[in-house]
Amino acid sequence: MSVDEMYLKLKTMLGDIVPDVELRYKAKLAVEINRLKQERNAVILGHNYMEPALFHSVPDYTGDSLELSRKAAKTDKDVIVFCGVKFMAETAKILNPSKTVLLPSQKAGCSLAASITAADVRALKQRFPGVPIVTYINTYADVKAESDICCTSGNAAAVVESLGASTLIFIPDEYLARNVARETGKHIIFPTLGPVKEPDTELDYTSVHADLIGWRGRCEVHEKYSVQDILDVRQEYPDVVILAHPECSPEVVAAADFAGSTSAMIRYIERTSAPRYLLLTECAMGDNIAAANPDKEMLRLCSVRCPHMNQITLDDTLKSLQVNRYVVDVPEEIRTRALRAVERMLAIG
Ligand code: 13P
Ligand code: SF4
Repeated sequence: MSVDEMYLKLKTMLGDIVPDVELRYKAKLAVEINRLKQERNAVILGHNYMEPALFHSVPDYTGDSLELSRKAAKTDKDVIVFCGVKFMAETAKILNPSKTVLLPSQKAGCSLAASITAADVRALKQRFPGVPIVTYINTYADVKAESDICCTSGNAAAVVESLGASTLIFIPDEYLARNVARETGKHIIFPTLGPVKEPDTELDYTSVHADLIGWRGRCEVHEKYSVQDILDVRQEYPDVVILAHPECSPEVVAAADFAGSTSAMIRYIERTSAPRYLLLTECAMGDNIAAANPDKEMLRLCSVRCPHMNQITLDDTLKSLQVNRYVVDVPEEIRTRALRAVERMLAIG
């Protein structure tokens, strides 16, 4: 595709959202990225949170964490450029170690992944011996390596139920754990171990019944949405349909009309015809859905952004292919243990 054709495509999709001068600049970058992608035999995976011009121009595949993990596992390209955050690029390397995996920015972290370490997980194991550990994919490889099975927002309840265990440790997202507990009818407790400064009162957990044992990690984006936000929007737009990511609090999820992974939210909007929608998740996704579905009216609450996903730009994606940066590696001993947990999840389907 020529620069003019790319500009026209982006202008048609994003003309109401992105300033013209920016579209012209980004069209040039996108064409050069796509040329280099061929030259280097690379595949670009783009998470649903990527900014709209990037999202609609360079990824070969877009999707949520689960879908992109599956694409990473299957690709036969030499290079995987992950337009997402570090734990996603690490998961690609865990699944497909012979490939060069590139993450365009070293600043693309995640507050959930930063909330727990491998040493924390080992301490949990000591405290609750023999209890299986379900680990959200938003964690680093060494944490996955300590786990029995991974899950994503798209399959968390199914993973928990697949184990059929009477008690499970579910780490590190407090709100996702609470939402899974609610969905599966399980009782959840939070031991005092955890990153939150004011933990629950110390209890003797050997005498407390729990189906799920959680950790108090939070997504710095989704924890900010409140039930009041929902009430305010509903007052102004009574016919709005509100969708929340399960990293939002259970109160917010209960007050919303639908909760699901980023791709589940996209599919819900594509398959329904409400007068307008509001997403309680990273704001770029609203732009991406509006661009692909011009007939849908998307309301935005854009004061809350993911500072990590927003690190990934077209400029850095181009640089990443030009100078082969930043290469994501996982030590083999950690990778093989983490692989077991990720593959066990993928086998659930
Ligand atoms: P999904 O797996 O639903 O795409 O979520 C990833 C994420 O980081 C949400 O904040
Ligand atoms: Fe992590 Fe939250 Fe950003 Fe997702 S939105 S990458 S969970 S900080």
